[in-house]
Amino acid sequence: SSSASSDVDAFLGCLSADIPPRLVLTPATSNYSELLLSSVRNLRYVLPGTVRPLAIVAATEATHVQTTVICGRRHSVRVRTRSGGHDYEGLSYASLDPQQQFAVLDLAELRTIRIDVERAEAWVESGASLGELYYAVGAANRTLAFPAGSCPTVCFGGHLSGGGFGSLARKYGLSADNVLDALVVDAQGRILDRSTMGEELFWAIRGGGGESFGVVLSWKVRLVRVPEIVTVFGIRRFRNQSAIDLITKWQDVAPALPRDLYLRVLVQNPQADFVALFLGRCDRLVHILQRRFPDLGMTQSDCQEISWNPRAVYVNYRDLDLGTNELEGNVTSYEKAKVWGEKYFKGNFERLAAVKGKVDPDDFFRNEQSIPPLPAAK
Ligand code: FDA
Repeated sequence: SSSASSDVDAFLGCLSADIPPRLVLTPATSNYSELLLSSVRNLRYVLPGTVRPLAIVAATEATHVQTTVICGRRHSVRVRTRSGGHDYEGLSYASLDPQQQFAVLDLAELRTIRIDVERAEAWVESGASLGELYYAVGAANRTLAFPAGSCPTVCFGGHLSGGGFGSLARKYGLSADNVLDALVVDAQGRILDRSTMGEELFWAIRGGGGESFGVVLSWKVRLVRVPEIVTVFGIRRFRNQSAIDLITKWQDVAPALPRDLYLRVLVQNPQADFVALFLGRCDRLVHILQRRFPDLGMTQSDCQEISWNPRAVYVNYRDLDLGTNELEGNVTSYEKAKVWGEKYFKGNFERLAAVKGKVDPDDFFRNEQSIPPLPAAK
């Protein structure tokens, strides 16, 4: 095992030559546990008795990654890279081997996203989450997307190096299929790009799991086209409504459906939820399913036509980007507030404003997104 020969003090000394001390946390540092837990998704792997890292390096620069690799090799301390901490077995921050002395290289602060709309490309650092990328792409252009998973907190480092499967996979493949270039720190501490790493390593880090080959700092990815309006549905069938027959049939039907259609089924006894995303409008979707999968009984009324990357909103997930109040005289303007208000409350916004008009017509209780009183004329 590595512990016999690893020299922890020398390792920490080596790090301190290049990395500011506040970025190197050891169990003796007060915020060590906070940082360790910051992206742990499965608390099983931090129960008492779990082997913990001897240090966590919270890298903010590529050179910190290089230094950690070089010092780790020099002083026989293994390095485990963590981007989003979603590893199903916790391998990015815990070891099964009680003897292993390892450090965690935490990339959460390396999360810059640069989007080039013209070229439909982006450079994304490994610590960026899928949700951050989806948001940035959506804000830059409504018809561009990136094929990746459904959980917004999963991060690029692990996701892309392991594959990346999501609702655009039938049409555009995995996230890893849409990587054009990458920057990798290798075992010698060099930074390599696609041309200097060569096609074999470039192939390996797109599905082989990044952790065996180096530390991927960032990824250049291809963005893909989606229509402005897509159609989704969820159809629930119970066991006593032939759910079992439908699941059996779905296994034959789904792989042969047009690639614009992603139809999955979530089975939770005693029900099956058939959930679809179609890169097109409702009419065509109904036509396809009535022909290919009539037993599902999908009709026009199941459809919801929405924009890609849609932003559903809910007042308890408050978001001032939707709009803020403006005064008219000394009272919040109802007309202006409608912009954000109807997004949260739809038709109920007017009713809420009517209640406000009755109980607080002078608008005493107000803030940036408080309900305005409904004007008397309304
Ligand atoms: P984490 O940081 O734990 O890394 C995972 C592995 O990759 C570790 O071995 C780590 O060392 C290595 N690694 C991380 N960053 C690296 C880097 N920069 N360079 C080299 N190696 C690196 N998958 C999917 O395809 N579709 C989906 O919809 C989902 N949904 C989903 C939801 C939830 C709640 C979880 C917990 C997981 C998923 N996944 C998924 C699985 C997910 O894609 C997988 O666990 C990824 O490896 C997670 O990447 P993170 O960077 O978040 O994890």
